[in-house]
Amino acid sequence: MKNPNSVTIHVSGELDKIPASDMAVFRTRINRAIDGIENTGQKVELVLGEAPKSQNQPSTTTKNASNETGENDEDVIKKLAQQYHCQKPLYSFKQLIVPEEVAENLLFAVDAIEVESIVYEEWGLKEIQPYPRTILNFYGPSGTGKTLAAHAIAERLGKQILIASYADIESKYHGEGPKQLKAIFYAAQRDRALLFIDEADSLLSKRLTEVNTGSEQAINSMRSQLLICLEEFEGIVIFATNLVENYDKAFNTRIRHIHFPMPDEKCRREIWQRHFPTKLPLSDDVSVDELAKIQDICGREIREAVIDSTNRAALKAKREGKDPRSGIISLKDLQEAAERKKAERIETEKEKLTPEEEAEVSQKVALALSPSESTNNHHNGQDKSS
Ligand SMILES: Nc1ncnc2c1ncn2[C@@H]1O[C@H](COP(=O)(O)OP(=O)(O)OP(=O)(O)O)[C@@H](O)[C@H]1O
Ligand SMILES: [Mg+2]
Repeated sequence: MKNPNSVTIHVSGELDKIPASDMAVFRTRINRAIDGIENTGQKVELVLGEAPKSQNQPSTTTKNASNETGENDEDVIKKLAQQYHCQKPLYSFKQLIVPEEVAENLLFAVDAIEVESIVYEEWGLKEIQPYPRTILNFYGPSGTGKTLAAHAIAERLGKQILIASYADIESKYHGEGPKQLKAIFYAAQRDRALLFIDEADSLLSKRLTEVNTGSEQAINSMRSQLLICLEEFEGIVIFATNLVENYDKAFNTRIRHIHFPMPDEKCRREIWQRHFPTKLPLSDDVSVDELAKIQDICGREIREAVIDSTNRAALKAKREGKDPRSGIISLKDLQEAAERKKAERIETEKEKLTPEEEAEVSQKVALALSPSESTNNHHNGQDKSS
């Protein structure tokens, strides 16, 4: 007997031809619709397949029974989310030195968030976009201020920041990634925090390495889960990546990208300046104009050079049997430390692929991963073996 208080929704169509990521978004939306119906006291049953005369597609699912990962238990996610904590932002815009256009882009994003309630609620933008959210991706070389900027945005908005590293999730929770991702979004929503997902390259892009089927599967689940999370999340998400080539199209349309370049001479001068605490015993010959001439150095290396030369100055005095407080940092000390830091980075970069090599690999992988993108008529399911 059919429960008069229950509603059955039949979903038909060529479901297996729908890409997994679109399917994930669809599932989220339908879950939201079901929530609405359930709030009116009715029970909802979702039936995938033609209905009701032909009963030969019995794939029935309820809201909590299935999702991309087979896990949709609120309590499990809530529990997992307990391990993620937000923190007070550590930096502000005062500390961030970026070219003017980057600063403008960042401030525009912040300002847009500040007027969000006016334009969405009072001016009715909600009618065309019911879930206002801000998704940014900071991309650029390491040590150029991406993390600092995420803190600065949170600080400016008076929000806490929840920092998660995607690379960490992937390596620590093998196979559990989608659940952890969900828990992270849950925690950010719970604390109304700005969510910062660092090292998100492989999450947003098509995979460059580990192209065996298992890994493909894992990354696909993560990407689908991310789309769901982004759909549902009401807040600010900032990704940080070093690589920008090869983004998944589904993310590209949802995310605003902001590029963090290596600092030019003007920015370098300012960054050096900001990294000299007033009490630092600098010798008279230290000139930020001279230091700014050191090219191809990022903000982090500047900071490290200051720390390194300061330590050396104190140690040098100590080794000479003097009070370490009598140590002094010269221009040459800073220049040498800067060169050392640059050399360290260049050494590690040698082990990475060149941009040309990366482009070549990504092209091959894209081809291997998505035959259906170039030929629409082909099967486009989970089975990527060919
Ligand atoms: N644009 C900048 N303005 C001021 N300081 C900077 C800037 N970039 C880097 N720094 C200094 O270097 C430190 C590290 O920078 P940050 O962690 O923001 O780099 P990142 O771009 O997030 O690097 P990664 O990609 O390796 O995570 C900052 O805390 C700051 O001291
Ligand atoms: Mg960072």
